[in-house]
Amino acid sequence: EKEVIALKEVMKAKKRSDEFFPINWYKEKLEKDPVYFHEETNTWNVFKYKHVKEVLSNYKFFSSEGERTTISVGAKSKEGQTPDKVQLTSVDPPAHRKGRSLLSAAFTPRSLKEWEPRIRQVVRNLLDNIEENSENDIVQVLTGPLPAVVMADLFGLSGTDQMLFKKWVDILFQPFDKNNQADIEAQKQKAAKEYYEYLYPYVAERRFNLSDDIISDLIRAEVDGEKFTDDEIVRITMMILGAGIETTSHMLANTFYALLYDDQSIYKELRANIELVPNTVEEMLRYRFHMSRRDRTVKQDNDLLGVPLKKGDVVIAWMSAANVDEEVFENPFSLDIHRSNNKKHLTFGSGSHFCLGAPLARLEGKIALEEFVQRFSKIEPVEGFELEENLTDSATGQSLTHLPLKIYK
Ligand code: HEM
Repeated sequence: EKEVIALKEVMKAKKRSDEFFPINWYKEKLEKDPVYFHEETNTWNVFKYKHVKEVLSNYKFFSSEGERTTISVGAKSKEGQTPDKVQLTSVDPPAHRKGRSLLSAAFTPRSLKEWEPRIRQVVRNLLDNIEENSENDIVQVLTGPLPAVVMADLFGLSGTDQMLFKKWVDILFQPFDKNNQADIEAQKQKAAKEYYEYLYPYVAERRFNLSDDIISDLIRAEVDGEKFTDDEIVRITMMILGAGIETTSHMLANTFYALLYDDQSIYKELRANIELVPNTVEEMLRYRFHMSRRDRTVKQDNDLLGVPLKKGDVVIAWMSAANVDEEVFENPFSLDIHRSNNKKHLTFGSGSHFCLGAPLARLEGKIALEEFVQRFSKIEPVEGFELEENLTDSATGQSLTHLPLKIYK
């Protein structure tokens, strides 16, 4: 069992809002301390684009198979664990390859094309609940539910209670906290058990009724003669939810935050030219996804980062800092939806572990924005909104709990 590193101690943010947007800290680290050893957590921390990329992708020197980690996902019970066959984030190539190919079977571009109209329908249904010419909470009406409802739909569960998903996910992937670890672990195990008991009979039945959904694709998937059992599939779906829901909600909510508080002219511009949406999504991933970071463990002594690294040392790669490295991005601290190279951001990682769900996340961002912008003429911030009071701890650092705005027909 891995020891969990409390990354909060590295950043030492005094307020939630500082952690939500730690841009000054990144700036300072990039300028003064780009390769930084933090005593209390016993970790190396790197911020520059070239270093972050090296650490993420050079698995011969920087391994995903360490004793310590920054992410604690799932629950420690049987139901809460990802099956060995698809341990992805914690193994290096070549062992990583088979699980990755098996899982990719459910994320092929062919599926994405088929999924697009389904996602569009989910978005339209959610937008129907918006009260026009009035105040709405975008987290509640759109950015919170969207990824969970999309996943439920793509699993083939459209008729059932999709919001149950979100409830379980919120419990299963709540962040590690030193003070109430035992309590949280008990809640997670309970949620994992409930989820497992809910989905297992569904998967077992699906096997005899294959259709066009992720669960059917997982049943069909086969690599080197290996296939998934029902038990494995249930636990894989839990892993997919863990990787894909909170992250995508975070991306969507932060996008609306940026439209309201970074640059209000973007909304008009998108309405005038809807083709700007995909590049806008990329720029949001670069500039408004603030706490993308991953750990690796040094596999062989090396000085690839300009310091003597010893086997077993833990290195934290701060992707969100790399995304504002001026060696790669011109004028990095400004939000520019016309930026031509923003796809180079490292928010989805780099190398063999590059996010398997990136095409889906991008598609959700694109469709949500396209549908929203085309339907509503104008959005406005609500007076008196206090960022500090509308944030909560999450796997992505600090996430918005509410984002009220006025939406006009
Ligand atoms: C891996 C970020 C959405 C599934 C990763 C990694 C990052 C990441 C940084 C690389 C981990 C590493 O190098 O150790 C994000 C962000 C998302 C997002 C920012 C949304 C904006 C999704 C979605 C899914 C998903 C929607 C699935 C539905 C996965 C899986 C992996 C992964 C399965 C493991 C890949 C591997 O280790 O080979 N994600 N992700 N992600 N992501 Fe995502």
